[in-house]
Amino acid sequence: MANIEFYRHQLGDEEFEAVREVLNSLFLTTGPRTAQFEKEFAEFLNTKHALGLMSCTHALELAVEGLGISAGDEVIVPSLTFMATANAVARLGGTPVFADCEADTGLLCARSVESLITKKTKAIIPVHLYGALVDMHAMRDLADRYTLKLIEDAAHCIEGERDGYKPGQLGDAACFSFYATKNLTCGEGGAISTNHDDLAAWLRSARIHGMSCDATRRHSGAFKHYDQEFVGTKANMNDLQAALLLPQMKHIATRRAERERLAHLYETKLQRIADVDFPKIPTGCISAYHLQTAWVPAQLRDTVVMDLRNEGIGAAVNYRPVHTLSAWKNRHDCVRIPLPNTERICASTITLPLYPGLRDDELNTVVDVFEASLHKAKQQIAA
Ligand SMILES: Cc1ncc(COP(=O)(O)O)c(C=O)c1O
Repeated sequence: MANIEFYRHQLGDEEFEAVREVLNSLFLTTGPRTAQFEKEFAEFLNTKHALGLMSCTHALELAVEGLGISAGDEVIVPSLTFMATANAVARLGGTPVFADCEADTGLLCARSVESLITKKTKAIIPVHLYGALVDMHAMRDLADRYTLKLIEDAAHCIEGERDGYKPGQLGDAACFSFYATKNLTCGEGGAISTNHDDLAAWLRSARIHGMSCDATRRHSGAFKHYDQEFVGTKANMNDLQAALLLPQMKHIATRRAERERLAHLYETKLQRIADVDFPKIPTGCISAYHLQTAWVPAQLRDTVVMDLRNEGIGAAVNYRPVHTLSAWKNRHDCVRIPLPNTERICASTITLPLYPGLRDDELNTVVDVFEASLHKAKQQIAA
């Protein structure tokens, strides 16, 4: 057995020490570490505001609500994504409408989005899939022409850039994930960034029930009664999460560079194998290299994934087309057009282990097992 996991985190001594300091301090909830993380994260993204949350799912839901989307409104989302993108709209009473992706990149297709815009459309949620940014100039242009909000699902893309812009710079808000397998992780966590002062102020209160001040402000300084201005949720990041994240901020550039090196190594080796292809990274795009995917003939895909798993290699499928899942497939209000690129890519995609710390010899083993399995599966089909 190879024992090459899908993901291995890189949390170590620095994070232990940072968490120990929080445990020795007064505040376990949103306090000075969260504030420090928010400051560093906003600086890194070059956006005015960043707020720490419990997850990217919370970030998406808060963005949808905070930008005024409600029951009866339509929001265009890709189907080639994790279900959280569509759920955020539906849970707020809106209707997610699924658009197709570009054939070569897997990223949300501007032409498909435009074909779905109706009088009820209020927003678009592009997903920066696998770490590569969607063409946000095209999305911004659509949003401006049709007066729509633009929410970026940047769960895969903290470190990416395209034509000089970063996630959150062209959208009204961008949503990030620090889930267990993400490039920056605290197990579960998320953030939202925005350049809108009014949205940031609303989010700061909405993430803590709509209260007028958070725990730190309630318990320090002179006594003051709290008020509740509206009905919010409970999604504030705590200082334990921030303590895990802060040391990782120092390593963002080197770890992204190592992901890029490993991704190039994979592609050099995999492109020698017949019938294997990859999503293209658009020209002008610096990917965050969150996931390494390879496309194989659809009829062989599941066999190859199973073989890799049986050999102890953490392969996965990112993603099944959301519009074909049981919760959505009969929702004719959401599934309005055929999505051929999405269905083709989702039927052929395999995700292979990719993370700093993956050794070159392990990567070679992954490729060897992948190639042998593909070869065997082809022979079985031919027989
Ligand atoms: C594209 C995408 N959006 C949203 C999410 C939700 O992130 P979280 O688990 O932090 O809520 C994920 C999680 O994997 C994701 O991949």
